[in-house]
Amino acid sequence: MSNPFKYGTVVSGEDFANRDKELRELANRLKETVRIFLAAPRRYGKTSLIKNVLGVLQKEGMLTAYVDLYWATSSREFMELYLSNVIRGSRSVARRAAGFIRDFLPRLRPRLGFDPSGNPELSLDVSRETPAEAAEEVFNLAEQIAKAQGKRFVVVLDEFQEIVKLDGEALERQIRAAIQHHKNVSYLFAGSKSHMLIDMVSEQTRPFYQMGTLMTLDKIPKEEFSSFITAKFVKSGKPLSPAAVNRIIMESENVPHYVQLLSFYLWDHFQGVSQLEEAHVAEALSIILRGQEPAYLTIWEGLTLHQRKTVKVAALLKGRLLTAKETIYRFHLESASNVAKSLRALCSKGILRREKGAYVFEDVLFCRWLEKLT
Ligand SMILES: Nc1ncnc2c1ncn2[C@@H]1O[C@H](COP(=O)(O)OP(=O)(O)OP(=O)(O)O)[C@@H](O)[C@H]1O
Ligand SMILES: [Mg+2]
Repeated sequence: MSNPFKYGTVVSGEDFANRDKELRELANRLKETVRIFLAAPRRYGKTSLIKNVLGVLQKEGMLTAYVDLYWATSSREFMELYLSNVIRGSRSVARRAAGFIRDFLPRLRPRLGFDPSGNPELSLDVSRETPAEAAEEVFNLAEQIAKAQGKRFVVVLDEFQEIVKLDGEALERQIRAAIQHHKNVSYLFAGSKSHMLIDMVSEQTRPFYQMGTLMTLDKIPKEEFSSFITAKFVKSGKPLSPAAVNRIIMESENVPHYVQLLSFYLWDHFQGVSQLEEAHVAEALSIILRGQEPAYLTIWEGLTLHQRKTVKVAALLKGRLLTAKETIYRFHLESASNVAKSLRALCSKGILRREKGAYVFEDVLFCRWLEKLT
């Protein structure tokens, strides 16, 4: 039997736990002309939720396009990616591509080709046009197609906060200028640097100020995720004790990716065991941490001594009271301003983030690794 746990990929079908409420809410809202900003930390399951929502909407006859900004390294590349995905999402592409290009992209005249699996791919010569003119055609395409086909188009821009790296605010402004007039397209902007996404819509000076409603995605409720995990173990002939499943949830801090990762290793490693116990979970975790050690050492080596001290204390105190007098005294952290400086550096390196008055590890397992060091 193959391992019933999945991590590192989008999950759907029987691998997709719970989230019924979020799925229904998002799908329903996207049927209207809306702009939604969906923010959640890394590895909470945004992309999986989004892809499942798009699946539902496609079945209901809507056109959908999914664009992941994470992989774009320039605004030109982003526009190409955007165009290819919008054209691909409009389905009847093979028949109509030539027409699209003539009617909707008169200035850009992209070259259409096909990738090895037969999907349409566009290459653009944006350089011949001013960026603003190119952007206007690119970002209006979904609306034009939606109008022409008499269908709603749902466009998702995942990891949207990356846009600022591409072309500062110019690109943000170009997108805004186009989409603010769209009546037949719904937009979902998702991001894993929650504060960046929130700033984009809540700061008056930013192009996306008040451009849409903000939604956040929480963890899957503990009880429901525990039942989901337990059922998968039982169904695959490897029952586990309630203490074991609690330990999985605790060690992974109930972040979906890490819950699945730990379950995967537990299932994989103890093939001959008839009932899995808490001690097996602890051992599976140690195996994972040993595998991660080279990566974690690289992070460690990139830190100053004070940052190392601070991050260790953050692991020990669960990210709380780090600048308190007693903490500074007990752990020889020198001064509150030094701690604040190290915390800022650790946040900008993507190791910690601020959440509800505490510091949280972006990688839950890095925190487990540090706990073992101390
Ligand atoms: N609804 C779910 N049910 C079960 N597991 C899930 C669910 N959502 C996410 N996961 C687990 O979390 C992993 C990461 O999910 P996904 O890539 O959708 O998250 P993400 O928030 O988009 O992550 P990233 O920040 O890395 O882009 C999946 O591979 C899966 O192991
Ligand atoms: Mg994602």
